[in-house]
Amino acid sequence: MKLILLGPPGAGKGTQAKMLTDRFTIPQISTGDILRAAVKESTPMGIKAKTFMDGGALVPDEVVVGIVKERLQKDDCQRGFILDGFPRTVAQADALKSTLGGLGKELDAVVSLEVDTEALVERLTGRRTCKDCGRGYHVKFDPPRAGGICDACGGKLFQRDDDNEATIRKRLDVYGQQTMPLIAYYRNDGVLAEVDGMQPMDVVQQRIVSVLQAK
Ligand code: AP5
Ligand code: MG
Repeated sequence: MKLILLGPPGAGKGTQAKMLTDRFTIPQISTGDILRAAVKESTPMGIKAKTFMDGGALVPDEVVVGIVKERLQKDDCQRGFILDGFPRTVAQADALKSTLGGLGKELDAVVSLEVDTEALVERLTGRRTCKDCGRGYHVKFDPPRAGGICDACGGKLFQRDDDNEATIRKRLDVYGQQTMPLIAYYRNDGVLAEVDGMQPMDVVQQRIVSVLQAK
């Protein structure tokens, strides 16, 4: 199963990718998570990426294309993968097509998660993440049992630096300008499936699984 989860910031790409990873035992490839790990470790790439990420802008195409090209060659991608947050520009989509072509692979589906703008802002301002295991929460829609502590591992929960309202609005603008054209791009390729991301998380998951089972 070779899948892209497409959608604006807060659409639920990460949430759904984690559920799909558990279900199908294929890796989630999140360029956002890979970049945040590089920022945390202060690698040269992380230091460069941080300015773009904090401003809500996209990291340059060549950086993310390089990350994904390398990641797709790993053994655990043999049975498939879920791309979460990549591609985000037409140039990235073209690069992905040529990388997959070189590996003799083709995408099975591109699922576009559709969520209203004001719901996205509410989801992102209320998002919390475990600093140890990475599990995601939402203060209202998926709260931890004990405030500020991860149910799964007891780690502390944190709020992402780019989850403040001003940066969220900028990220949403960037999505509209640079990423939304990919909906038409993949519709044209005959692989696009639009899923209503306003539904509860498990309903969205069921709908994605139905799309995949129809393939
Ligand atoms: P990235 O980390 O990819 O952020 P994003 O695209 O802005 O998306 P998010 O992770 O914010 O949202 P999500 O869709 O994963 O939502 P989630 O499941 O967490 O990228 C960050 C930055 O890195 C970019 O701005 C850019 O600078 C850089 N970058 C990354 N990739 C790049 C690329 N390819 N090219 C260039 N630059 C790149 O859900 C959000 C919240 O909602 C959670 O709290 C969750 O619990 C809740 N929730 C989820 N589903 C539901 C539901 N159905 N109902 C109610 N609540 C829900
Ligand atoms: Mg995410």
